[in-house]
Amino acid sequence: MTRRFLVVAHRVPVDGNFTLNDLAGSGGRFDELARIISSVFIVSNGIRRDSEVTFHLVSDPHHPRRVRLVGSRLKYLNPDERSTAALVKNGLGRGWDRPDVEMETTPGIFVGPLPDPEGALREFAGRPGAVWLHESGAPLRGAELPEDPEFLLSDPYDLVPSEEGCLRDAGVRRISVGPRALPSSQCVTLVHNELDLRGP
Ligand SMILES: C[S@@+](CC[C@H](N)C(=O)[O-])C[C@H]1O[C@@H](n2cnc3c(N)ncnc32)[C@H](O)[C@@H]1O
Repeated sequence: MTRRFLVVAHRVPVDGNFTLNDLAGSGGRFDELARIISSVFIVSNGIRRDSEVTFHLVSDPHHPRRVRLVGSRLKYLNPDERSTAALVKNGLGRGWDRPDVEMETTPGIFVGPLPDPEGALREFAGRPGAVWLHESGAPLRGAELPEDPEFLLSDPYDLVPSEEGCLRDAGVRRISVGPRALPSSQCVTLVHNELDLRGP
């Protein structure tokens, strides 16, 4: 089973034009995206090879982009936020001269166009594994999950109403990791923990 996460990133500059010294500001909260990446992949002394995360970068309506990190191929990922941000930032920069094609910018990191972000959300919502991580969803503990779950969450900014509409219209199941609103990266850790406890 592959564990998939999909994150809508609302403010990260799509061309990677931000400084590593200011991930939270000019990076559009890339500090939290880097923590999400760590939570998706990093375990003690290793990488979760069975996991993937996709980011929809939607800050520029003219050039939305998709970044996918695939655990089975991933190289050069370290646990610190700065080097993680540098890996993705460099990928965004390298792919910028061919924004119309998806490129593997370093092993396991794919950067490409996202021509229709809300269409892509509707496509996600139609997949059998779709799960919307939401503060007021059904409790994760004990929840019946699809065979190949794919968990959608937002970055530090809430989904906008039209994004929420794509998921609500399709009736995507909503699951909560607990009663408190948490940073997305912590939600990922809790989901992994629940799946780890349930076993292979
Ligand atoms: C930091 S939250 C978004 C802002 C949040 N509404 C707030 O008031 O801080 C980021 C995302 O994490 C997920 N999330 C946060 N807490 C959650 C919870 N208790 N259960 C499930 N998902 C949660 C949701 O997908 C949410 O969009």
